[in-house]
Amino acid sequence: MGNVILIGFMGCGKSSVGVKLSYRLRKAVIDTDKEIEKEEQRSISDIFAAEGEAYFRDKETECLRRLIETADNKIISVGGGLPMRDVNRELMHKLGQVVYLRAKPETVYERLKHDTTRPLLRGDNPQEKIKTLMAQREQNYEKAADVIVDVDGKEFEKIVNEIERQIQR
Ligand code: S3P
Repeated sequence: MGNVILIGFMGCGKSSVGVKLSYRLRKAVIDTDKEIEKEEQRSISDIFAAEGEAYFRDKETECLRRLIETADNKIISVGGGLPMRDVNRELMHKLGQVVYLRAKPETVYERLKHDTTRPLLRGDNPQEKIKTLMAQREQNYEKAADVIVDVDGKEFEKIVNEIERQIQR
């Protein structure tokens, strides 16, 4: 289907890399969080607050199923928790090549320390939350990935170059 799917922890740069990569590869970019917000006509934070996390996770799977029917030759950046469900990893493999943007917890914290849009990182000690959640997720990101790019300390330009070099065209 010619799609490239970007996965990785919150704040690893999926959205920004997605936009830059879309210029480079001349593919339009789709973001599952934005698709869900559009469909639900409310923000991710509002969805979590009103319906809870499980509802949002079902929306992610529905969104992937829709993309299987419609997305062709696109860059698709997905929410940080989406690759945790087995079914979502299967769906991503059907959709295209999966690229994992791997970031250290320190990188994520630096990028998100003033962010208010990630419900899972709210509250006391976000640094600890990032570390714990990342440790729980790492294996699934690696399992899902066809290509892994380490992003720490790298300009977006360099990250995009590395992705371009490693994906199948
Ligand atoms: C989440 C990541 C967010 C968003 C939601 C949950 C997660 O997307 O889907 O807040 O569980 O890691 P980003 O990875 O784009 O921040």
